[in-house]
Amino acid sequence: MLIIEELSVRYEQKEVVHNFSFDVKKGEVLSIIGPNGSGKSTILKAIARLQPYSGGTITFDGENIRRLSSKEIAQKMCILSQRNQAPADISVRNLVAYGRYPHKKWFERLNAEDEAIIDWALEKTQLMHYRDQPIAALSGGESQRAWIAMALTQRPQILLLDEPTTYLDIAHQHEVLELVRELNREMGMTVVMVLHDLNQASSYSDQIVVVKDGYRAQIGTPEDVMTEQMIQQIYRMEAEIQYVSWDSAPRIQLKSTVKA
Ligand SMILES: Nc1ncnc2c1ncn2[C@@H]1O[C@H](COP(=O)(O)OP(=O)(O)O)[C@@H](O)[C@H]1O
Ligand SMILES: [Mg+2]
Repeated sequence: MLIIEELSVRYEQKEVVHNFSFDVKKGEVLSIIGPNGSGKSTILKAIARLQPYSGGTITFDGENIRRLSSKEIAQKMCILSQRNQAPADISVRNLVAYGRYPHKKWFERLNAEDEAIIDWALEKTQLMHYRDQPIAALSGGESQRAWIAMALTQRPQILLLDEPTTYLDIAHQHEVLELVRELNREMGMTVVMVLHDLNQASSYSDQIVVVKDGYRAQIGTPEDVMTEQMIQQIYRMEAEIQYVSWDSAPRIQLKSTVKA
């Protein structure tokens, strides 16, 4: 569905993503992990065409994304970052309604079908109760859910999430990731996300890409990628990998920093 081939991105003179390739299959959850500053957000922004790239090709359903209009991009993908900015006084419902606009002509108003999709997204993210509240009045987890609801009304084929749990407490982290999993399993939504937490990446992903200094260090299933050696090489940490049962995701227990 999404093919990234030899992607290179530079900021001014400095190249920060080098010859980076991976494929995302329809219906898959792929996570990008790696230390801070390794280029994860840059890769995600390049896919969403928010970041120009100097080399390589990104293909979505057989089409080079450079050839798509902004409206086509918005119909195919939706990107959410760690902290999304909305006017403080916008209500939950109005934010969620924004997701419909890529599907409308500029003069067209929302119709009954749009309203139904908006209600469905509010239900799905358990925000019906908060619909008339300003976004600014929500907690971090609720606000992240409101953005996901907006993404849902956009009906994208692929959801791009940049560290969707970073500013949330653990209960809300769990809640947001469970919602992502439900969208993936029930609606077949393809998801590419940057995750900070190795155990979250391990339990929620079909495929994991490991980035180090803008290079692709590894790619594979959680079982392939989550090894003591990878964690030592990429994060300079000692770790122990446990398998709780035969069908469970590898569980990573970090021990201590490796001494140089
Ligand atoms: N707008 C920018 N201008 C210049 N350098 C940037 C910009 N954004 C990111 N960088 C640099 O590019 C590298 C990758 O950044 P980023 O993609 O944000 O990494 P990550 O998301 O993995 O933390 C870092 O060295 C960062 O400092
Ligand atoms: Mg980042």
